[in-house]
Amino acid sequence: MTRTAVVTGGGTGIGKAVSARLVEQGLDVVITGRRAGVLTETAAEIGARPVVFDASAPEEVEKALAELPERVDVLVNNAGGNMTRRLPTPEGLADVRNLWLANFESNVLSAVLVTTALEPRLADHARVITIGSIAARRGSSSYGPAKAALEAWTAELAFQLGGRGITANVVSPGVTEETEFFGGTLSEERRKKLVGNPANGRAGTPADVAAAVTFLAAAEAGHITGQVIGVNGGAGLGR
Ligand SMILES: NC(=O)c1ccc[n+]([C@@H]2O[C@H](COP(=O)([O-])OP(=O)(O)OC[C@H]3O[C@@H](n4cnc5c(N)ncnc54)[C@H](OP(=O)(O)O)[C@@H]3O)[C@@H](O)[C@H]2O)c1
Repeated sequence: MTRTAVVTGGGTGIGKAVSARLVEQGLDVVITGRRAGVLTETAAEIGARPVVFDASAPEEVEKALAELPERVDVLVNNAGGNMTRRLPTPEGLADVRNLWLANFESNVLSAVLVTTALEPRLADHARVITIGSIAARRGSSSYGPAKAALEAWTAELAFQLGGRGITANVVSPGVTEETEFFGGTLSEERRKKLVGNPANGRAGTPADVAAAVTFLAAAEAGHITGQVIGVNGGAGLGR
């Protein structure tokens, strides 16, 4: 039977690379996102099926269920981003609250809502892979704390679903270029600081992250669960 995959935020960057790899491996892949145009274009390019919805909006997730596969073997919770880069600098407590909620909604609720909605459709031995961030251990406004919450939630999920042979893991990238994450606003100076000093001397690419995701998505990876796999070239090792 052909395995099926749902990749949230599959229209660009890391999600697109993950989806392309899964298609290459013979899976039927559904990619999701909010922008119909981007999604349709990517789907045609890589051979996936687009389903447009906001992963952080409960009613949109529920409505999208009609278009999502009846059986899901691989769920990649990739939708998200750093809202600190998209919203103005907070000027008062109300702004601080909004920013924290925006990062929580975008990164945590998107994964929690889609996984909860699809849980009854997860096949035995399915794989749930959530994209975290090196920021979970480093801070970065309210974005890092939101990504840290995904790690705790994934540990819970591993126990919740483990009896059915389903695994739940986080792939945690460091700075990854060739995505829309930085919105073209990254100065060379800031880039150097963010990339830091990884052991391999370079930033990551979506293909680097896709390699880790497809490894965890494989049928053979059944004994790896509740883990956080860093894809960061050794950044943060302290030298
Ligand atoms: N690039 C990095 O340096 C880096 C490092 C660590 C972790 N990450 C994480 O990697 C993941 C992918 O990011 P990326 O770097 O590939 O950036 P990206 O190109 O901006 O990809 C994010 C994707 O998620 C979709 N998305 C965002 N919010 C959504 C929502 N509420 N509902 C549905 N789709 C949504 C976006 O499409 P629409 O706007 O059309 O919805 C977009 O396709 C994110 O979780 C990000 O936090 C990135």
